[in-house]
Amino acid sequence: MRFATLAFGVAVAALAGAAEAKPVLMPQPVSMTEQPGALTLTGPFRANVRGCPQPLTGRAVARLQADVDRLRGGPASGAGVRLSIHCRARDAGYLTLEAKEAYRLDVTAQGVAIDADGPEGMLRALATLRQLAAPASGAAGLPLVRIEDAPRFAWRGVMIDTARHFMSLPTLKRQIDAMERVKLDVLHLHLSDNEGFRVESKLYPKLTGSASGGQFYTQAQIRDLVAYAADRGVRIVPEFDVPAHTGAIVTAYPQVAAQVAPNDPFITQNRALNPASEATYRFLDALLGEMAGLFPDKNFHVGGDEVSDAAWAHDPSIQAFVTAHGLANRPAMEAYFHARVRAILAKHGKTVIGWEEIAATPIPTSVFVQAWRMSNTISATTAAGHPTVVSAGYYLDNLEPAAHHYAVDPLDPEADGFTAAEVTEAAKISPLAESAVRPLELKPLPPLTPEQARLILGGEGELWSELVSDEMLDARLWPRAAALAERFWSPASVRDPDALQRRLPIVQTELETLGLQDQASRARMVERLAPGHVQPVLTFLETVAPVRNAAHNHMIRAMLRGQAHPPPQDLNTLADIAPVDGTAVRSFEADVQRLVTGDVSIAPAIRARLTAWRDNAGPFARIARGHPDLEAALPISAEVTTLSGLGLDLVDSLTAKQPLPDAVRERAASALAQAKRETDASARPMFAFVHPQPPADLIVAIAPGIDRLFEAAQAAR
Ligand code: ACM
Repeated sequence: MRFATLAFGVAVAALAGAAEAKPVLMPQPVSMTEQPGALTLTGPFRANVRGCPQPLTGRAVARLQADVDRLRGGPASGAGVRLSIHCRARDAGYLTLEAKEAYRLDVTAQGVAIDADGPEGMLRALATLRQLAAPASGAAGLPLVRIEDAPRFAWRGVMIDTARHFMSLPTLKRQIDAMERVKLDVLHLHLSDNEGFRVESKLYPKLTGSASGGQFYTQAQIRDLVAYAADRGVRIVPEFDVPAHTGAIVTAYPQVAAQVAPNDPFITQNRALNPASEATYRFLDALLGEMAGLFPDKNFHVGGDEVSDAAWAHDPSIQAFVTAHGLANRPAMEAYFHARVRAILAKHGKTVIGWEEIAATPIPTSVFVQAWRMSNTISATTAAGHPTVVSAGYYLDNLEPAAHHYAVDPLDPEADGFTAAEVTEAAKISPLAESAVRPLELKPLPPLTPEQARLILGGEGELWSELVSDEMLDARLWPRAAALAERFWSPASVRDPDALQRRLPIVQTELETLGLQDQASRARMVERLAPGHVQPVLTFLETVAPVRNAAHNHMIRAMLRGQAHPPPQDLNTLADIAPVDGTAVRSFEADVQRLVTGDVSIAPAIRARLTAWRDNAGPFARIARGHPDLEAALPISAEVTTLSGLGLDLVDSLTAKQPLPDAVRERAASALAQAKRETDASARPMFAFVHPQPPADLIVAIAPGIDRLFEAAQAAR
């Protein structure tokens, strides 16, 4: 009897599991139809390739096989699974904006068939197949599906800043691996800035010397990286930022520098080239020509952002040039400079892309523009006829959760910027705050016309690395870049944040299984903080997130207080290690969502998590003693304990369908209000610098999940 009951229970659980199991895909395809059943993976894929280039396709299949083996524990040694791959065209547009990326993927009981428009479509189909083969998509094997798919946008990028912190080659390759798995196709590398010039120049060897801390990629390494990315359907778009953000260049070659007033902390940290000197253009012709030869992509990024008036105002030779040429103002001088740079790059066969400032004056429509400061920009750049890449709303270094960026549609000119009320608020704070916020005030704008919309090439998540070291890169880029991959690939109608949150931890776990190093790096960083006692810190880190919007940037905060040269910031604090969109928090929220929509079977899992979090305060306090970095977080650890304990009360009330005791209601309201105040302190860019931040620059990331339980428990009254 007991056995029969047990067997019945297991069968019901298995059925429930089967009904639940849907392919977990990110990005979601355009269409997917499912049939009951599964194709068992009886052994390795036996590929039959027609019309696709080799060795590209063979290598792609080998990568797929290795990944499937890692996900499922292979290699399986049975008869194998038929994998027929057909490319309709070899595609001269491979690795360009015209690349043929559409594909159809059929999984039937007989095997897998891919019909791709071109080699990039083949790679994208294999990325889908990889996710279908993960146990989360179908424990019994590949789910039987027909998928028809094509990207919404051709430019689906991330930018990695290798200048502020150097990123090693293995680290970059790991990001490219993950990009391939979620169908991102542009890696924009920011390769020069005040802190360093990161590519070997045989013509100007001093660039990579002491001005760059000697950290750079050799030309052979760049060629290798470009080929590695090309194999995975990823274009590398290099950026050499001019005329500002050139501190490393002008330190190495002062003869091309604009003279600046001494003692201005901001300008001495963001030096510019001299746009009035022919020596500058001879230098750029040679240097950019050399760099253009290393990067085969048609697009070449010239930066162009953030030239301040002070950069050129104190150089008499530049002022004389401005007068002699009748240039009305600093933007006119910039326009002259960029026209010269464009002519240089045109000679080398490149199409220029630059940050939105380069389009402040009318320029040829052939120039690509990257909109970054606010969403209104896309209306202006597309009205002026520029192909536009959207980054406004996609600044990953703002440390916002994935859902924040996911909600921003690349075609929405009103998605990201400041409100009129915020401008008023900034004006009350200080003239400096107002001057930072007012230019970014969102104005109501009509939707883009179809002609304008066609000029939006896609989007790009930016990760500036002032506060991102090599070992932090995986954790700062993922899983949020996967959410952006979906925003840029999938139809605009795919925008349900709950569906995102359900899949994101699963996709992240797969990416980790396949090679992302965020967990290993986190464990190493914690070991440095608490040698031999990592577990209470790791448990604590499941529950928190770093403050947002550069509130954790102590260097900027010091400069705003007037300190000219703040020391570099230690990047091994809890705020640097805490995940932005932690898997534990997202899984917790997904579980809470199930509970509050009536699935009480999930309650034990929620209780187990909350109990572990609640009971962590004691062990955390014991190991924190004597470690100032950890001690700073004790108040936050206490908040986590309070909220987790209240969460348990709320689960009890929900599952027992009992009204919430008044005392619990009052304590929950108060604790949640405190967590919200602490989160709000860094909720908005710019304002985050003026508000005091919570202890250890940490916010309680489990609070929204607890709040959801609280809402449901109150509604159930
Ligand atoms: C930028 O964020 N300065 C382009």
